[in-house]
Amino acid sequence: MATINEHYLKLKAGYLFPEISRRVHTFLETHADAPLIRLGIGDVTEPLPAACRQAMVAAIEDMSDRDRFKGYGPEQGYSWLREKIAAHDYQSRGCDIDASEIFISDGSKCDTGNILDIFGNENTIAVTDPVYPVYVDTNVMAGHTGPANDLGEYAGLVYLPITANNQFQATLPTQNVDLIYLCFPNNPTGAVATREYLQAWVTYALAHQSIIFFDAAYEAFITDPAIPHSIYEIPGARDCAIEFRSFSKNAGFTGTRCAFTVAPKSLMGMTPTPGHEAVSLWHLWQRRQSTKFNGVSYIVQRGAEAVYTPEGQAQVQGLIRFYLENARLIREELTQAGFAVYGGVNAPYVWLKTPEGLSSWDFFDELLQTCHVVGTPGSGFGAAGEGYFRISAFNSRENVTEAMQRITQCFAS
Ligand code: MLT
Repeated sequence: MATINEHYLKLKAGYLFPEISRRVHTFLETHADAPLIRLGIGDVTEPLPAACRQAMVAAIEDMSDRDRFKGYGPEQGYSWLREKIAAHDYQSRGCDIDASEIFISDGSKCDTGNILDIFGNENTIAVTDPVYPVYVDTNVMAGHTGPANDLGEYAGLVYLPITANNQFQATLPTQNVDLIYLCFPNNPTGAVATREYLQAWVTYALAHQSIIFFDAAYEAFITDPAIPHSIYEIPGARDCAIEFRSFSKNAGFTGTRCAFTVAPKSLMGMTPTPGHEAVSLWHLWQRRQSTKFNGVSYIVQRGAEAVYTPEGQAQVQGLIRFYLENARLIREELTQAGFAVYGGVNAPYVWLKTPEGLSSWDFFDELLQTCHVVGTPGSGFGAAGEGYFRISAFNSRENVTEAMQRITQCFAS
């Protein structure tokens, strides 16, 4: 008899985005002609930068030549890509990160889940509320929590609420937590973290020997020069943080798949046994990746490398400006329509307060049925997201403009 991982049975019915798709699908069964505009999942809509496409085409040609053909690549990623990341994304910002500490992967979603493989089961885990659901669900799957209550909060997790009342900055825990998930620019609220705030977390983590999982998938959207792009801009972070980055949202790789994780060699975790010996987390992650992962395709890595060419940089900047202009339109239109809106300045997500008396899912249904616009209910990101709603700036200008007109007409106060 094959038994199952029973922890999966604790999970709420569906992952948030498939659940939204399910509801949209049901709606379309009876409204097949509804002109839907999807501002829900943060999926890019604009074409891949030309520099990336050209590099991928050239890489395909390499595959046609016996001498340039590539079979299995290094599990950690090709050094020519890792070196460019280290130089451009880290060393240029004064971060002491070496190419050997970078692990190329096919996504930050996978990495933020897979990273749990190298940590023990007895850690106390802190997440913000609301939060990117992958952090929570992967801990549930790994058996790190008890069951969920009616609000969807899992026993055993430490939830740190982020709401308008605390400017979407979690208060540092008063108790000891071992693993801390931080995401800046924040998904879903669009908030950013100042240097001082990140320093407070690094100081906490060093004092408690905790590890910060720092998800910086949206760092390219930071417009304020005072806001750090990487946790490694903060002194001490090399000894307490793992950073996750992605080419998905800056260079449009959501379908192409390329990302990376940074595990500094100085980072240590402890054996759970009495005596607590320090073990290199870089070493464990390298061991995990080389056992369970065969690397990202040569063609895709060549495409990602092209992001760091002058043309690639200019084209990526163009994409970022495009989506941020969408975010500005969303913010302005919704503010004029009387909504309280947050985020969307240094992030591609606008977070709004739902109208009085409407829950997040009520507002989702209302928006879908009346305006034919799809967004993401805040409560899907956690109990403290109830009464909030996320609008993604990832869409064409035409669709964003049209969606804002429809919402304004329906909801103008
Ligand atoms: C989101 O909409 O929150 C993101 O697209 C999810 C993801 O990147 O996996």
